[in-house]
Amino acid sequence: MIGVIDSGIGGVTVLRELLKVLPKEEYLYYSDSVNSPYGDKDIEQLKVIVSDAVQYLINKQCKIIVIACNTASTVVDYIRGKHDIPIVAIEPAYKMVYDNDYSEKTLIIATKATIDSQKFKNLYLKYNNHNTSILPCVGLAELIEEGNNQKLDDYLKQKLSKYKGVKCVVLGCTHYPLIKNNIKKVLGDVKFYDGSVGVSKVVKNILTDKNLLNTSSDGKISFIDTNKSLEREKIFFSLLKNLK
Ligand code: DGL
Repeated sequence: MIGVIDSGIGGVTVLRELLKVLPKEEYLYYSDSVNSPYGDKDIEQLKVIVSDAVQYLINKQCKIIVIACNTASTVVDYIRGKHDIPIVAIEPAYKMVYDNDYSEKTLIIATKATIDSQKFKNLYLKYNNHNTSILPCVGLAELIEEGNNQKLDDYLKQKLSKYKGVKCVVLGCTHYPLIKNNIKKVLGDVKFYDGSVGVSKVVKNILTDKNLLNTSSDGKISFIDTNKSLEREKIFFSLLKNLK
């Protein structure tokens, strides 16, 4: 089984890509709404929260863990040091801008905790194209969880209007690919970058190298929410069904 972690339903955008390359695996998705949002937590809190989530999935016999949350991924080095299982972590896809659209005007959006992290600073300095703005979007993941389009549009208009003219937008939180259309209403036809495709390839490579691929199951997906929220579960499966 592959364990997938996020603070809520955002990691569905990563699971969707995993299913494309690994359709015959079983998945256990861990939505941590008790501790949501992760984006306002400090590093010590994140270490405890993410470590508990990983331990839970290990106890359920997962063979690999995917941290489908950029914020939780900021503590992945600490987590890898504690648990003896392959752990794959997503990060804002800024390297992809460097590889494909170097020098284009770019905006990176992510949670405050991600942007404040040393891991993100290192990434930014490594791939800096000197034409990039960085914007922490406090409260945006919560609005996406809430699913009120009007509130989302108001928030985005207020936050993003001054970045009109950017060509590339790095979606540095796994919730954000769910609102590409809302973002386009403010910024127009920008090019989006997110790390979910890259992460899925890494997971496939690791399972292949370690001879851990499952070929017999037909992609069973289980969902656990730490608040036992049936509503979250319903939204999660409906998003998964409707995502392309
Ligand atoms: N989906 C998470 C991420 O990728 C964070 C959302 C939150 O703040 O909990 O960063």
